[in-house]
Amino acid sequence: MGVINCASLKAHHFTESDIHLLHSIGEQLGIAVEQAKLYEQLQSGREKYRQIARQVIIAQEEERKRISKELHDETSQMLAGLTFNLQALIEMAEMIGIEDRKFKDLLKKTLSSTVQINTEVGRLISDLRPTLLDTLGLIPAIRQHAESNLTHLGINVSFKYEGADKPLRPEVEVSLFRWAQGVIGNIMQHSQAKKVSIFLKGDSHKIELCISDDGIGFDPSKLTVKSGRGKGAGMFILKERLRSVGGDCLIQSQPGQGTTVTATVPLSQASLD
Ligand SMILES: Nc1ncnc2c1ncn2[C@@H]1O[C@H](COP(=O)(O)OP(=O)(O)OP(=O)(O)O)[C@@H](O)[C@H]1O
Ligand SMILES: [Mg+2]
Repeated sequence: MGVINCASLKAHHFTESDIHLLHSIGEQLGIAVEQAKLYEQLQSGREKYRQIARQVIIAQEEERKRISKELHDETSQMLAGLTFNLQALIEMAEMIGIEDRKFKDLLKKTLSSTVQINTEVGRLISDLRPTLLDTLGLIPAIRQHAESNLTHLGINVSFKYEGADKPLRPEVEVSLFRWAQGVIGNIMQHSQAKKVSIFLKGDSHKIELCISDDGIGFDPSKLTVKSGRGKGAGMFILKERLRSVGGDCLIQSQPGQGTTVTATVPLSQASLD
């Protein structure tokens, strides 16, 4: 790893104990240098991991935009056309006096399936691209997403906001919305909660979004990426999503004690002005 050069003003031999001492110093220095190198490697590995996570987030957002545009412009329009044609067919069948019950029932069934599929596609579009975020803003978008996903599972949602009326940068809004989607997804998947409360709070320094559930909880210190398929990376990606806009998040949970996760973005990073 390196060499120590020792010199003395007076000519003399190194004693056994000098050599021993120098040897110990050399060993200590070697360990310190090695540790510093390993630390550097670890830091740069972490930084690379973060960069990749950010790229994944950007790619995910782009892909979601593309799919939702296609679903909206193509699939949904075609389904609307199909619904219209089926309605016209049902009316025609009445007008020309078709009596066949089975035929008419089948037409009606096909119409109701088409309407149902189009509603489902509409839900997919709004999950992929929060249109409410574009039109009404962050608060109604989060509220609508929470209510439409949790209420039908019998989970009671309470929503509160305070001082969160400052206009935010669009990428901060998207990050907070996606973060909330991820947290709500975890509540649906893992929590077995009965009650969820969402609190969006803004002050002169920061914007804070806090989501609590009264479910089974877990031990956050045991969070690991469980498999090569990326399962269990949810929380990590959620944190990176906030970090990419200058924010961070905190997970507070204990088995049996419910879960509270809080996202914070400093106003200097979040605000438009
Ligand atoms: N609200 C919650 N209540 C109970 N446990 C939770 C909650 N949120 C997360 N967990 C626990 O934390 C783990 C990690 O969550 P994370 O979102 O990182 O991964 P995942 O949901 O298992 O997989 P992925 O999000 O990648 O599909 C979960 O597997 C679950 O055990
Ligand atoms: Mg998850």
